Amino acid sequence: MLTHDEVKQSADFLRGKLPFIPEIGIVLGSGLGPLAEEIEQPVCIPYGDIPHFRVSTAPDHAGRLVCGTLSGRRIVCMQGRLHGYEGYAPDEIAYPVYVLKELGVGALIVTNASGGINTGFEVGDFMLIEDHINLTGKSPLTGANDASLGTRFPDMFAYAPALREKALTAAEQCGTVLRRGVYIGVNGPQFETPAEIRAFRTLGADAVGMSTVFEVIAAAHCGLPVLGIAMITNMAAGVLNKPLSGAEVNEIAEKRGGVFRSYVKTLVETL
Ligand code: HPA
Repeated sequence: MLTHDEVKQSADFLRGKLPFIPEIGIVLGSGLGPLAEEIEQPVCIPYGDIPHFRVSTAPDHAGRLVCGTLSGRRIVCMQGRLHGYEGYAPDEIAYPVYVLKELGVGALIVTNASGGINTGFEVGDFMLIEDHINLTGKSPLTGANDASLGTRFPDMFAYAPALREKALTAAEQCGTVLRRGVYIGVNGPQFETPAEIRAFRTLGADAVGMSTVFEVIAAAHCGLPVLGIAMITNMAAGVLNKPLSGAEVNEIAEKRGGVFRSYVKTLVETL
């Protein structure tokens, strides 16, 4: 269960370690961690040092907060996140979002690697997440609600229109194509069957992934404006006539990492 007391303890610990109060939080998805290397005068804090934080086991997820400046803005990055498929409960996955809000962050950018369901997309594309479908069947808000964190029944118009506009403007500024669409969040770790992907397309999804939805629910719950950017690292199961692999996801994330980093730098400048 999420409690404001624990959140305050985590935030107090971080206030004692960080050089300043960050303005923007960024959650870095699979293969997107190297963005944190671009942060100037970084202060790195392993999740294991922070009271009540859990430690990520996913490959390529460094598992630390990196705080510093990027494009002149005060940033805190989660270099690595937790996933349901690692065995973490939804509230454990969402917990850091409340801590960032408590710290004083005013906007959260969540990024992820996704499979493209929309056949108009191409591998390597970026997609602005306009909305999501939580297909995990779970919620980080299950159980008693600490009303000082947020309301019992939060509205889920979560992806702030003003931030979405800025994301599109930033893409224009750096000449990057930014697709738009609906993200469907699943538990994993297995990739989907082709039949599942056809069903997800019918439901209105454009991209699929194994993260993001719990963090965004938490952000909506505690009133933190959120922006979501997905990198399409592969076409989803059955779209192309080839098997999927985790290696392919990382390969594409690495290949497109440079473009992603320059886009995010422009984006944080405009936020
Ligand atoms: N499915 C689920 N999660 C993913 C995928 C996918 O095809 N690609 C990257 N993360």
